[in-house]
Amino acid sequence: MTGCTNLSAPLVDKVLVVGHRGASALRPEHTLASYRKAVEDGADIIEPDLVSTKDGVLVARHENEISGTTNVSEVAKFADRKTTKTIDGVQYTGWFTEDFTLAELKELRARERIPQARPSNKSFNDQFEIPTLAEVIALAQELSASTGRTIHLYPETKHPTYFQSVNLAMEDRLVETLRANEFSESKATVYIQSFEVANLKALHQKLGGSQPNWKLVQLMDARDKKPYDFVVAGDSRTYNELMTEAGMKEVATYAKGVGPYKLTIINVDSSGNFEKPTDLVRNAHAAGLLVFPYTFRPENAFLPAPLKAQGDDATRNPSGSVTEIQKYLETGIDGFFTDDPAVGRQAVDTFKR
Ligand code: G3P
Ligand code: CA
Repeated sequence: MTGCTNLSAPLVDKVLVVGHRGASALRPEHTLASYRKAVEDGADIIEPDLVSTKDGVLVARHENEISGTTNVSEVAKFADRKTTKTIDGVQYTGWFTEDFTLAELKELRARERIPQARPSNKSFNDQFEIPTLAEVIALAQELSASTGRTIHLYPETKHPTYFQSVNLAMEDRLVETLRANEFSESKATVYIQSFEVANLKALHQKLGGSQPNWKLVQLMDARDKKPYDFVVAGDSRTYNELMTEAGMKEVATYAKGVGPYKLTIINVDSSGNFEKPTDLVRNAHAAGLLVFPYTFRPENAFLPAPLKAQGDDATRNPSGSVTEIQKYLETGIDGFFTDDPAVGRQAVDTFKR
């Protein structure tokens, strides 16, 4: 950290590249192959989203409903596990991790989530297992040794209120798993993120000063949305209220950083042109909070219109993504989530303030 007074400059010495779900533009997300590729391509940090199995093991998946990212729908022995559930107020029909033991989940194989935008990734379908958090930590440890740079971790507990409601609360498991390996216990920086608030506050209380290398990060969705635990508790506040100067001060009582949706830092107009940056980064930095926006993606489908290259939605456009990321780097962000860490690395390494 620098003792800066410029609130539009990073609080860190070097802006950090987070491999979002690994290198998910190039491998099926949340697989060891995806995390390995992220590190090979220059990520400083790898990000596992976490859900629970029936036997309480934390595994890397973006959702607990896994028909979109695995071959589960084609495995005959699991056909009768298909069911309908309401998760965070939304009804889903499919197969859910909490209905499978870890041993059963290990029989499945990962698939590309968005083959229409990432057709090359289909060649990796059905090759890789669903990894546990413990396996992701072990990989970061292994790659830290082989590369000579410490690979940090950025786990996110998904649907914490829901998992608590089915007696599979994830926070104690997360702490136990992180403490079970000395790499995550004391060597790496571990950024623990959540879109909910109460679980982060509880972790802050529980940890006290015991884990100086772990940093809690408050994720923030679009301004008009609410943390799901606020919805359940009848708290009327939206993320917008957490983004104000006062809101950031409150967040700083339990967290070290925020992870905002990128358009809350710089929005785009109806033509896709960047608007003037908001005061989000300044408000966060004034409260001493790091800022890690999400998510930068290198395909045309995800870039604002003026940055799209010739071609269809699946056309890879690394230079457009570098331009987009560098626009956000101008605001003083401290790191960012990208599906393509090589592109993120290039954006950071070629950026001139
Ligand atoms: O955690 C940062 C970013 O990953 C949040 O969005 O939905 O990709 O987990 P999501
Ligand atoms: Ca995430």
